[in-house]
Formats: sequence, C-alpha cells, structure tokens
Amino acid sequence: MDTRPAESPLDPRDVAYFQRGARENPRFWSRLGGQPDLAGKRALDLGCGHGSLCIDMAKAGAARVVGVDLNERLIDFAQQNLQRNYPELAPRVEFHCIDIADLPEGDFDLMTSKDTFEHVMDLPQVLREMYARLKSGGRLYAAIGPLWNSPFGDHDTIKRLMGVNLPWAHLWLPDRIVLRATERRSGRPLQSYRDLGMNMLVFRDYRRIIYESGFAVEFFQPNCSRHPVVRLFSLLRHLPLVGDYFVNNLYCILRKP
Ligand SMILES: C[S@@+](CC[C@H](N)C(=O)[O-])C[C@H]1O[C@@H](n2cnc3c(N)ncnc32)[C@H](O)[C@@H]1O
Repeated sequence: MDTRPAESPLDPRDVAYFQRGARENPRFWSRLGGQPDLAGKRALDLGCGHGSLCIDMAKAGAARVVGVDLNERLIDFAQQNLQRNYPELAPRVEFHCIDIADLPEGDFDLMTSKDTFEHVMDLPQVLREMYARLKSGGRLYAAIGPLWNSPFGDHDTIKRLMGVNLPWAHLWLPDRIVLRATERRSGRPLQSYRDLGMNMLVFRDYRRIIYESGFAVEFFQPNCSRHPVVRLFSLLRHLPLVGDYFVNNLYCILRKP
C-alpha cells in the first residue's frame, strides 16, 4: 500500500488566476505587435506571478524560461502547477522567488514583464538589473497598468472596502481613511499605498524612467485597448496639466543596443 501523503490540491483561486492567462497572454502579445519568434530563445519574465506567461513562452518553443517574482506563495504555486500539469515543459522552465539583483547575470534573448512595473518600488534599479542580464540586441516587452493616476490606479483597494468602483477615488479620498480601513481588514500596519504594493508612479514618471534607462525605445504606446472609454482617454491624455489622469496603461518594447 502507498503510504505517502496525498498531494494537496492546488488552490482553485490560484488555478482560476493562472487560467486568466489564456485570455490575457494573447492580448499582451497582440498589443505589442504579436508574439516574437521564441523558438530556441532564452526568456525571463519579471513578476511572473502564477507563471502563466512563462508556460506560454515555453509552449511557443523557448529553450529556457526563467520566471522571477518576490511572492513566495505564487512561486510555490507556479512550481507545483508546472510539475503537475506541464511536466513536459518542466526541463525548460524555472521559477525563482528572488530579487532580480540576486539572479546570476544571464544572457537572455528576451524579457517580458506583464502588469508588474506598477508594483516595482525601485523601477530604475530593476531596469538596470534587467538590462545587465539581456544580451545586446535583446528586447524587453512590457505591459504596465493600471497606472496610479488612472481611474482605478489603486488596483481595487477602495472597491474592496466599499463594494463599488468609484473612479479616481484613491486620489480624492483621504489616504488615512482608506489605509486605516484596509489595516483593519488586513491586520497589518500601512503607512502608504506603497505598503499595498503600488509604486504610485504616473505616466510622466514612467516616460522619464524608460527614456533614461539606456534601452532604445522601439515602441511606447499609452492606452492600448479597444474599450470606448480608453479610446476617449487617448484624446483626453493630451490635455495640459490633467493628461496623466487619462492614461490607463502603457505598453512598450525596449531594446538593448
Ligand atoms: C499584478 S501581478 C502580475 C503577475 C503576472 N505577471 C500576471 O500578469 O498575472 C504583479 C507581480 O509582480 C510581483 N513583483 C512586484 N515587484 C517585483 C519585483 N521587484 N521583482 C519581481 N516581481 C515583483 C508581485 O509579487 C506580483 O506577483
């Protein structure tokens, strides 16, 4: 009789989040001009979360895919999901709970980062670390958003408290009210929205950081979406002084010269 303990099932909420990739990954690539040829490539995904984009790149033929994230629970899920549901890809995919600064310098052909840069606290430094690990001519494909000044730049913090989506509420409701109420729910002290994982950077900050990063900017597109409101935002973002409030997301392709 097999006396080994039965494997605990993967948390269905994590599985559901992972499965969102089936919809989100094709959209990520299409907004960036289509998935590049990944056959035989070495790829790194920064902020891989549940690992969906890494699996996607391995399925597309990448020779090695490294997913890094700071969240141990998510990396644990990504590893278990890989072993259990994609064993055929396991020799080519690695997940590491590690700060990219601690990843041995690599020679990656390309890098991705999806919906993560708005959570990275020291983005200039992380871009330097990515740059150092990318081969010359290699590209970084990034999707960023929602940006802090956009209608839901608080990533639903207020919706979770009040049950309704109030656009831009995080910018006019006093922080201390939101943070104290969130503290009571989460049980951990909060000084700022940054403690909830948002770097609070706005569009002009990203533009400056990206253009100063040393990468060649091949593609830089705010408000990628077919949603009619976001299309309207594409006009409103040119308004003087208030334009940044109408930038919902940012997609870019950066090349290491
Ligand atoms: C919104 S999730 C996106 C996850 C995944 N890319 C996706 O699209 O589902 C953002 C992720 O970035 C991670 N993260 C934040 N700062 C990071 C950093 N400096 N390095 C690596 N991962 C980071 C978080 O732990 C989180 O898993």
